[in-house]
Amino acid sequence: APGKPPGPLKDTSAKLVNDARHPWKPLLPGDLRGPCPGLNTLASHGWLPRNGVATPAQIVTAVQEGYNMANDLAKFVTYAAHIVDGNLITNLLSIGGATKLTGLAPAPPAIAGGLNTHAVFEGDASSTRSDAFLGNNHDFNETLFDQLVEYSNKYGAGRYNITVAGEFKFRRIEDSIATNPNFSLVAPRIFTVYAEAAFPINFFIDGRQTDGQLNLGAARSFMQNMRFPDNFFRRNGSIGADGLNDIAALHPIQPGTNVGRVNNYVVDPKSADLTQFCLMYTNFVKDTVQKLYPAPTGILRQSLKLNLGFFYNSLPAEVPGCSEVFPYGR
Ligand code: HEM
Ligand code: MG
Repeated sequence: APGKPPGPLKDTSAKLVNDARHPWKPLLPGDLRGPCPGLNTLASHGWLPRNGVATPAQIVTAVQEGYNMANDLAKFVTYAAHIVDGNLITNLLSIGGATKLTGLAPAPPAIAGGLNTHAVFEGDASSTRSDAFLGNNHDFNETLFDQLVEYSNKYGAGRYNITVAGEFKFRRIEDSIATNPNFSLVAPRIFTVYAEAAFPINFFIDGRQTDGQLNLGAARSFMQNMRFPDNFFRRNGSIGADGLNDIAALHPIQPGTNVGRVNNYVVDPKSADLTQFCLMYTNFVKDTVQKLYPAPTGILRQSLKLNLGFFYNSLPAEVPGCSEVFPYGR
């Protein structure tokens, strides 16, 4: 059975995390990496297994130790991703594509395909990865990074900050509306698209720096090279998705999809918007998870119940009165 989620760190002070015990190493044949520069970097420094396959508990511990990600957010993101992308029998998740290393996958419609899997967690309008429909949704894309640099020069005096994040993310969304007939920005993507725009500010800035301005050398180091800058200190004190709402507020857009063709963005009234965290949780369990697991039995059902419980218990305190959903019984 899956182990309990780790609790918060006792000591959340800034400290050297690119240390002698966690040297960067180049990939070996067979190592898996994917769409998340945060996790890719942890794996390439050995804060996660270097092959890119980990348990949810290992991921929660690593994002806390390596970046000071807050415990509730770490659990929320990790269990959401694990439930849809992980192997719930072996309790292993690939931070990249599908692999035998996570064990035999449960029968379809389950996928257990790792974080590269499109549409259940990974989504469109990423900053440095292409939309799945347009190409490769997981590898670093130089053209997109160049655009991030251009926006940082234009709006951030050469650094990536909240203003740059808001302007650049809006550009990425506009480009997807204009070029991707399958473009989707319904929950949970409407949340993750902005959270991930804030993460470089919250987690990639050296912990001894307090101005909220990410230099672009560090940005490239994480996003392309999966490498902490030399001497990198994690931030001082834990933090969650702070900045998400400020970034979204620069160019507000309702959750929706392109319907059938490009330039046909239609708001989806069934989707949670950024104010409806509980509805996002409820729909994720009722739609996404139940579509992948319509009638699980045995160990699989048991694992789903446990992992869904861990997921629900990670809902932040700011979501009072959100009832737990039990699709597989209590
Ligand atoms: C993107 C998973 C933690 C930074 C992503 C994506 C996934 C993911 C699936 C792709 C979404 C997309 O852009 O389509 C996870 C999981 C985590 C985690 C399961 C467990 C806690 C972190 C942490 C950081 C981080 C701790 C920063 C230190 C980012 C960034 C992106 C991203 C910056 C956006 C990349 C881009 O848009 O080009 N993550 N992540 N993530 N993640 Fe993570
Ligand atoms: Mg993406």
